Amino acid sequence: MENHNANDLIKSLQRIYYFNKITFWLNGELITAEIPPAQTTLEFLHNNQHLYGTKCSCNEGDCGACTVVIAQVKEGNIVYEAINSCLYTAAKLHGKHLITIEGLGTLEQLHPIQQVMLENHSLQCGYCSPGFVMSLFALLANISHPDEEEILSALEGNLCRCSSYQSILRAAKELSENFTFNDIVPAWCRDIEKQLFSFKDASKLIEKSGNLFYPCTHYFIPQKLSELTDILANTPESVFIAGGTDLMVRMNVQKEEMPVLIDLSELQELKQITYTSRGIVIGAVVTYSDILHSGIIKTDLLSLYELVEKIASKQIRNFATLAGNIANASPIGDTLPLLSVLDASLTLFSSTGIRELPLRDFFLDYRKTRLNYQELIKEIVIPLPTQDAFIRTYKATKRKAVDISAVVSAVKIETESGKIKEAKLAFGGVATIPKLSHKFSELLIGKPSEEINPIEIAEIVSAEFNPISDVRGSKEYRQILIRNQVLNYLQEYVQGDTNE
Ligand SMILES: Cc1cc2nc3c(=O)[nH]c(=O)nc-3n(C[C@H](O)[C@H](O)[C@H](O)COP(=O)(O)OP(=O)(O)OC[C@H]3O[C@@H](n4cnc5c(N)ncnc54)[C@H](O)[C@@H]3O)c2cc1C
Ligand code: FES
Ligand code: FES
Repeated sequence: MENHNANDLIKSLQRIYYFNKITFWLNGELITAEIPPAQTTLEFLHNNQHLYGTKCSCNEGDCGACTVVIAQVKEGNIVYEAINSCLYTAAKLHGKHLITIEGLGTLEQLHPIQQVMLENHSLQCGYCSPGFVMSLFALLANISHPDEEEILSALEGNLCRCSSYQSILRAAKELSENFTFNDIVPAWCRDIEKQLFSFKDASKLIEKSGNLFYPCTHYFIPQKLSELTDILANTPESVFIAGGTDLMVRMNVQKEEMPVLIDLSELQELKQITYTSRGIVIGAVVTYSDILHSGIIKTDLLSLYELVEKIASKQIRNFATLAGNIANASPIGDTLPLLSVLDASLTLFSSTGIRELPLRDFFLDYRKTRLNYQELIKEIVIPLPTQDAFIRTYKATKRKAVDISAVVSAVKIETESGKIKEAKLAFGGVATIPKLSHKFSELLIGKPSEEINPIEIAEIVSAEFNPISDVRGSKEYRQILIRNQVLNYLQEYVQGDTNE
């Protein structure tokens, strides 16, 4: 026990001993701060700035008590995004604007969000309140007069243990009805907006900008693939970090050591979603929120759009990436079944070159992939499905948001001349890696919809899998979920086909 504590202490000291400088706006002020590698924004606020308004509860992205807002330039526009400061590394703040609860209001002059929440009795103990205020701030800074659905989506990552939800929702609706952008976003924020555009250029002059080096733990933020190649050549044993929403949980909770982190999130070449002759290409540092804001995905990959809406919370989606979900190789990663049935492939990059790999060949065993040493996912390529393809996903969870699936699945059925030409079904949460059902394809290809017996096929497919029992569900429960998800897909497909 003593050894364990001593190790923990050494690890936490390693995280606070070695510093380098980043420059960013903290509330109304441009600051240059010394930060230790892999320090989180929450640790920075508490330990470096002694700003304790932002709360810590779970330290793993689940509760939203630590919510702060980042303003940054994205595709030529300023966006305000709520993030979980307990998982967002402080190094990522360079060149951005961090807004915390201290920046918004004072006891003498509350911010309108605080004032309206107070008038609606939206707080009891108040521990969750700064997080709720910041989530509402991000919402109202981006959308004028959000509707109830948009409000609920913005608040899904915030928990209130005193259960003040109804009064918080009442306050949010009042704010939505009566307040505009200029009421919500203070003038000093709007002044900083202008400076954020020019900062990106100016940052080139700042010593070591975007490249933080420490003798003990190293944290690099390359801006170009050529810089990444140099870093890889000189830095063995490095670990990639994109959003950090899986990785920082491992560091915060499991106390894992990462001697060298290479942050991919500033690689401009990997921030795009584009059409190509091979299909839609999604760069490795495109976040889930970028996917939701992309016209390309909403128009041509609606199934992915709808699935991403159900992943994690608004705060997590604002910095977590699709590539991170794949590379993390969790058997329950939500996007993996869908990407499998869509025949996605991966472009992998290393200092020796580029190679392509079909996604379904990527996973070897529990959290083991075909990624070579110091190789990263550069892009995800998704062939465009035909307009009539039947594509659906189901995610079975206990809560609607911020919950990992017990079973997640996806289906794609293509029909030609009244018969099924292609049928693909994949599951997550039923084996050590995402799995395709061979029986499903066997039983459906070549059949017209009148000959499909959904109950029979659902039973056969369910028997094909042998899931394990764990905290998210027993083997028997998972088996029922598999059966019912197949049944739902087929009933919907048959009904749609006969209705046409
Ligand atoms: C509160 C909470 C809720 C969540 N809810 C869900 C959910 O509903 N569904 C779900 O599927 N997941 C969920 N997750 C998990 C996580 O958010 C996703 O897996 C996310 O997609 C990870 O992306 P990231 O960019 O944060 O990855 P990171 O944490 O940065 O990286 C994850 C792993 O991938 C590696 N990596 C990252 N990018 C690359 C790359 N381009 N090439 C090679 N390796 C790379 C890293 O080294 C690391 O091992 C949740 C996490 C939290 C904290
Ligand atoms: S402290 Fe709970 S989400 Fe960060
Ligand atoms: S008011 Fe107590 S946790 Fe929300």
